[in-house]
Amino acid sequence: MTPAGAAGTVGPVRVVGTGVLGTSIGLGLRAAGVDVVLHDPSRTSLLLARDVGAGRLPQDGDPDPRLVVVAAPPDVTPDVVAGELEAWPGAVVTDVASVKGAVLGPLRSSGADLTRYVGSHPMAGSERSGPTAGRPDLFIGRPWVVVGGPESTGDAVLRVRTLATDLGATPVMLDAGSHDAAVALVSHVPQVAASLVAARLVEGDPAALDLAGQGLRDVTRIAASDPALWTSILGANAGAVLPVLRALRADLDVVIEALGAADVARDAESVQEGALGTVAAAIAAGNDGVSRIPGKHGGQRRAYDVVTVLVPDEPGELARLLADVGSSGVNVEELQLEHAPSQPVGLASVSVLRGLRGQLEEVLTGHGWRLAG
Ligand SMILES: NC(=O)c1ccc[n+]([C@@H]2O[C@H](COP(=O)([O-])OP(=O)(O)OC[C@H]3O[C@@H](n4cnc5c(N)ncnc54)[C@H](O)[C@@H]3O)[C@@H](O)[C@H]2O)c1
Repeated sequence: MTPAGAAGTVGPVRVVGTGVLGTSIGLGLRAAGVDVVLHDPSRTSLLLARDVGAGRLPQDGDPDPRLVVVAAPPDVTPDVVAGELEAWPGAVVTDVASVKGAVLGPLRSSGADLTRYVGSHPMAGSERSGPTAGRPDLFIGRPWVVVGGPESTGDAVLRVRTLATDLGATPVMLDAGSHDAAVALVSHVPQVAASLVAARLVEGDPAALDLAGQGLRDVTRIAASDPALWTSILGANAGAVLPVLRALRADLDVVIEALGAADVARDAESVQEGALGTVAAAIAAGNDGVSRIPGKHGGQRRAYDVVTVLVPDEPGELARLLADVGSSGVNVEELQLEHAPSQPVGLASVSVLRGLRGQLEEVLTGHGWRLAG
């Protein structure tokens, strides 16, 4: 985080909407010594944000803000941005709504002065809402999409980029359409898919759910998200989400069709030629897709070897394991912890670079750890 006095952002910064995002921005800017003035139509939200240290209330004689950050729900954002542009003719106005076309379109029709407007979207967040969930370090190390429209001045874009870097984020320049298509693919459709898979569990036999492993937890982790928030995000980005969802439905239909013709257990004779190949191709396409997700530090995704270790579910045991891994001189590339159902042990999966597995296993067994196959 930017140390106090070292921020490029010049205050006062006016934060409009003091929920989790607005409060986190206020907290981060205050930590960097920037003057932050808060506004929210909910008095409770406003006073709570002040009380947690995200900024102060406006006072008579305040200088006009140089930057306004609108952190209100997406559906009210265009109106709020238009009002702030009009109220503060010397300020650059940005917003942090998760969709950009749905903000820019109505703003353009409203005739607002778009030279001073630059949309943005910090790719960080919380499944909780409200000021008490705010954190000054929320944006550190995260991408922050900056959407300068064709009308935005260079100075306006620079002020928003500076805001992102002051909060520890990495600015990424995109136009509104590319942003919306990107988040549809990497965030909004995965949310729908996770929710639909998790919804299948509602009527599942408890005995079946007892068999759940890390795979199910991985696929459904984001299904615990807030329905109201996601309804507003999906509704605002429907134009970009629908083509991806339709493509997904087409792929699903292909797999359903192929499996219907490939019920090997029922009658091997009737398995249609090509049906199993179609199923295999769908799984292989998933391999291709997952290999395109960037790996550590944005670099190419690499294949790791995994050493799985049984860790007693007791204080200090995971720390002891990591100390022993450290003593092997092998770097931990990734770490996952899974709890064994009905047993007081966890399974720690330690990912290491290819070729280093044997070295790590030798050191860990030497320290008395039990390895799983
Ligand atoms: N939460 C996330 O993970 C996340 C991540 C990135 C971007 N965003 C975006 O940030 C924005 C805020 O989301 P949040 O999670 O902080 O929500 P939140 O529910 O925590 O807070 C929203 C705040 O906006 C206020 N508000 C409502 N109407 C308003 C209006 N007309 N004018 C000003 N303020 C108003 C509410 O009183 C509330 O305090 C949204 O546009 C969301 O898309 C959220």
